[in-house]
Amino acid sequence: MNKLYVLNHKMNLQYEELEIYLKKLNELSTKNQIILSPSTLYLDYCRKNTKYHLCAQNAYYQEKGAYTGEVSFKQLKSLNIKYAIIGHSERRNIFKESDEIINEKVKSCIQNGIIPIICIGESKEERNNNNHLTKIEKQITSSLEQTTPKEVIIAYEPIWSIGTGTIPEKEELTQMIEHIHNILTTNYNIEFKILYGGSVDDTNIEQILKINYIDGVLIGGASLKIDVLKNIINK
Ligand code: 13P
Repeated sequence: MNKLYVLNHKMNLQYEELEIYLKKLNELSTKNQIILSPSTLYLDYCRKNTKYHLCAQNAYYQEKGAYTGEVSFKQLKSLNIKYAIIGHSERRNIFKESDEIINEKVKSCIQNGIIPIICIGESKEERNNNNHLTKIEKQITSSLEQTTPKEVIIAYEPIWSIGTGTIPEKEELTQMIEHIHNILTTNYNIEFKILYGGSVDDTNIEQILKINYIDGVLIGGASLKIDVLKNIINK
């Protein structure tokens, strides 16, 4: 089955670098689906210069008004942006986004017809204390509270795996993805996909995609290196 590859550029690339990157990205071919998530600043440029669907890395839940520096989901919609990452651990930890804020963002995203890519994940400490499964369940249920989405994408990104070069053991990942799948099928009547994110590269992509119920990956650092990405997206 075709897989989904979401490229999260985070706050990387200068404009000239993006121009070069995009030319190379457009030349890649794959039977799989690629979604590009550049810096918000470049969404409009990418819209005009690539065939791939685009994803915002964040947005604010109010539709408009006196919110200096923010961009709304409604504004993203006006650019035809199809996806938005919500609740990335960097937003939760660095920008102190609470479960309540993330829930508001999911609501606004859905209201504007944008498909949310909701990030969830436990810290190393939570896993060591055996709290990882409950943490994940709480993150899913709180993010989807009082919402009726048709479609969501859940990205499981263990915090201890992001940017560290370490990915979960096969058994750890299998258990968690099954857990997420069970929560979604038991409690919600929605179409969903489950992604894995955290240190994905061309050396581990095959083992990750072998795990049952994984529909694709959310790639950070490796998505910026076209040569590595080329190897990843054809697995
Ligand atoms: P890395 O692939 O750089 O570990 O980042 C993962 C991530 O946070 C994607 O959203």
